[in-house]
Amino acid sequence: MSPDDLKKLAAARALELVRPGMRLGLGTGSTAKHFVDLLGERVAKGLDVICVSTSEVTEAQARGLGIPMSTLEETPELDLTIDGADEVDSSLRLIKGGGAALLREKIVASASARMVVIADDSKLVPQLGRFPLPIEVVPFGLEVTRRAVLAAIAAAGASGDLVLRRKPDGSVLLTDGGHYILDAHLCAIAEPEALSAALASIPGVVEHGLFLGLATAAILAAGAGLTILGDLE
Ligand code: 5RP
Repeated sequence: MSPDDLKKLAAARALELVRPGMRLGLGTGSTAKHFVDLLGERVAKGLDVICVSTSEVTEAQARGLGIPMSTLEETPELDLTIDGADEVDSSLRLIKGGGAALLREKIVASASARMVVIADDSKLVPQLGRFPLPIEVVPFGLEVTRRAVLAAIAAAGASGDLVLRRKPDGSVLLTDGGHYILDAHLCAIAEPEALSAALASIPGVVEHGLFLGLATAAILAAGAGLTILGDLE
């Protein structure tokens, strides 16, 4: 099976968790895109759900499929969010934001009673940090924020380069919220909770990609079948 087949397999299992009348959070990325496609097929056959997206890209995809969309203003409490991840550890701690949607993804996940991660099993890691940690920052005072982020990383016992994320054409990437992303190449994050707290205390940091205590389950697909972490129901 190709990595894309595995992503679709995980998305299909997540679709089985959806019940009529549910308020759903829709994630961002190539795996979440499969889930939205499959959900669109069910909606076309009459499934009644209301959804909130985690990015402009997912919003456009869902609307194009005829999925009823809402906002967190109208629907501030969600039953279930289905989203991908860049890394998952055995305690359901995540790194997210490879698709630059971490801020809305974290807000939507925190508004949701359950967050189920869907991924191929290459995302399961013994320790977070091999994937560069995305840190969303305001453009104002970038150098001040960059230095404070480096100090926070050192205080949490990690080290590595901070790289301002750019688009393929070389221009600086702007998130849906109009912010920049600094990718922290740390290789290993020994104390995710300490790093999360340190980053959250920096004024110019809007959000970071450590999702701690948010995911309630993960569906990880491999050639041999699905591995479930946590509680799906
Ligand atoms: C977007 C994300 C994605 O969920 C994450 O990057 C995983 O993406 P993919 O399913 O394409 O591997 O956090 O901000």
